[in-house]
Amino acid sequence: MKRYRKHDFPTNQVRRFLEPGPVVLVSTAWNGERGIMTMGWHMMLGWNLVGAYITAGTHSHRLARGSGECVINLPTLDLLDTAVGIGNCSGSDGDKFDRFGLSASPAARVRAPLIAECHSSFECVLREAHDNADYDLFVWEVVQAHVAPVPKRPRTVHYRGNGEFMVSGKEVSRRRLFRPEMLEE
Ligand SMILES: Cc1cc2nc3c(=O)[nH]c(=O)nc-3n(C[C@H](O)[C@H](O)[C@H](O)COP(=O)(O)O)c2cc1C
Repeated sequence: MKRYRKHDFPTNQVRRFLEPGPVVLVSTAWNGERGIMTMGWHMMLGWNLVGAYITAGTHSHRLARGSGECVINLPTLDLLDTAVGIGNCSGSDGDKFDRFGLSASPAARVRAPLIAECHSSFECVLREAHDNADYDLFVWEVVQAHVAPVPKRPRTVHYRGNGEFMVSGKEVSRRRLFRPEMLEE
């Protein structure tokens, strides 16, 4: 599997990758254990804040809650089968890095590892966790971002439910219709 060389990236620009709502792989580590989950239910809540639903009772929930840290990794289309596999088993039954042949590389600010085979990795610390009967919402602050410069626009996958995915593709620009202060550069 291809590994990406990632560079530091401004944390206030992570929307470029997360705002379109791609499937991500969330890595965690706590108390000598590490885990990975597949996630479709996340959203930007500000420039460097991400809301995420992590089901109570999962291995990832325990590690995320215990450590207060995670890494949100962005897989590309070539990792789709791996992402589906990761999302259909539990880290309680064995280490998913080993099981799926993924490489853990050390993060700069958190103990959870980056996934080397992912195009981008966003190190996060927990700002808030809401545990209630209906949903388990985590609010993550991105404290360090790592992005591969090539490809600039990775082919990401977007879950529609029921085992079906959309793949990112055509880019269109409407910069000319925006007020200048609405644009970042
Ligand atoms: C495409 C896809 C998207 C998923 N999205 C979420 C999600 O947003 N939140 C969640 O809690 N579980 C989601 N899951 C299920 C988790 O990935 C799964 O429960 C998790 O991998 C359990 O592993 P763990 O016990 O090792 O944490 C998704 C699974 C797939 C295949």
